Amino acid sequence: MYIYVFLVVIGLTLVACDEDPIVINPVNNDLIDIPFNPVSVTLDIPFHLGKMVIPEDNPLTKDGIELGRYLFYDPILSGDSTLSCAGCHKIEHGFADLTATSMGITGQNGKRNSMSLINVGFSNTGLFWDGRSPNLEAQALVPVEDPIEMNAYWPDVVEKLKSHSEYPAMFRKAFGIESSSKITKELVAKALAQFERTILSTNSKYDKIQQEIPGYKYTDEELLGLALFIDGEPLVPDAECFHCHNLNLTSSSLYFNNGIQIAETIEEFKDPGRGGFTGNILDYGTMKVPSLRNILFSAPYMHDGRFENLDQVLEHYNSGGHHSPNINANIYKLNLNQEELDALKAFILTFQDTSFMNNPALKSPFN
Ligand code: HEC
Ligand code: HEC
Repeated sequence: MYIYVFLVVIGLTLVACDEDPIVINPVNNDLIDIPFNPVSVTLDIPFHLGKMVIPEDNPLTKDGIELGRYLFYDPILSGDSTLSCAGCHKIEHGFADLTATSMGITGQNGKRNSMSLINVGFSNTGLFWDGRSPNLEAQALVPVEDPIEMNAYWPDVVEKLKSHSEYPAMFRKAFGIESSSKITKELVAKALAQFERTILSTNSKYDKIQQEIPGYKYTDEELLGLALFIDGEPLVPDAECFHCHNLNLTSSSLYFNNGIQIAETIEEFKDPGRGGFTGNILDYGTMKVPSLRNILFSAPYMHDGRFENLDQVLEHYNSGGHHSPNINANIYKLNLNQEELDALKAFILTFQDTSFMNNPALKSPFN
């Protein structure tokens, strides 16, 4: 900022002294020679997953997504340039991480478990466990300044990007800015959001069966699991899962209390969840329903990472969980036997998909 003002002053002085025709301030148009030809990108999404809503003011473009990928994997966004978004959202862990609660750059652990970013572009009812960010563009601004995450100050981050040897040109190609001085945190967030919308997993066995691709069918065990999951057959007990983890995306993206916290009153919730954001008493203890896709990669589970494996999760649901205010009516003692629990697990594992991990477009551009 100071450099910019200084140069403008010199520029004006020069004009005043020599009476030359206006000198174009080089700082102000330093990117104008770089071509800006946005190429729009349409995501290849199978029909059964529905449409992803993309904001009109942030259409997906090839260069926007690519810039987002660089920024996502670049520790430049953190205070001491050591931690990137990918530090807590690792591709090999389904874009989550393996700690119960993630650690930021100061070595402090946050209060919550990192969330998987797989298919996050479909999530239109708020982001974070409590849904406090309305969309990906708003969400991306948060971790950078969170003191126990990336602990940076946006104006400093933006300065680092402006003086970087490559980013100004990339911002030009992505957003058509004419000078590096036009880089803003909002453009950083837009690029990150574009990249995040491309984090798709649509090649699981479940997806192949939905698309009727020849050669794919459920085993008998998986079929029993499906029936349990969706309360699908009169002769099979109801496991009630689909009320909250609906089929296809496996998350309704709504907020529920699934009985994992112990509390007599709403004040006693260790984590108030959505209630802490909305203040509505009916939201206390509720959390965003996470996706069950690629669940094996992203243990531990729940907002506080309390369960280390799927068996513990299933045992929780089978036992009916803990009583607390706002517990959902679909959480009660299920009394499933071991065969049924195994079948439920087998069905959930049909949502496993390793193809996204090998997709070069989702991997770090730095190695
Ligand atoms: C220190 C670890 C850490 C870093 C670094 C981090 N995140 Fe996260 N992320 C988390 C945690 C923990 C949550 C859940 C926090 C909560 O609910 O309060 C989360 C939640 C999210 C969500 C919400 C997902 C959903 O389904 O609602 C998105 C999107 C996200 N992060 C993207 C990013 C981006 C983009 C960056 C980089 C700018 C980033 N994260 C950096 C740990 C991290
Ligand atoms: C009332 C809604 C509801 C029902 C019914 C429900 N869930 Fe959940 N599920 C949630 C919520 C909310 C969370 C996150 C809770 C938290 O972290 O505090 C969750 C978390 C999970 C997780 C952990 C995911 C992760 O990434 O941490 C798994 C696995 C899971 N549920 C599986 C199931 C299965 C299997 C069933 C059926 C037996 C089921 N759920 C029934 C709402 C529900």
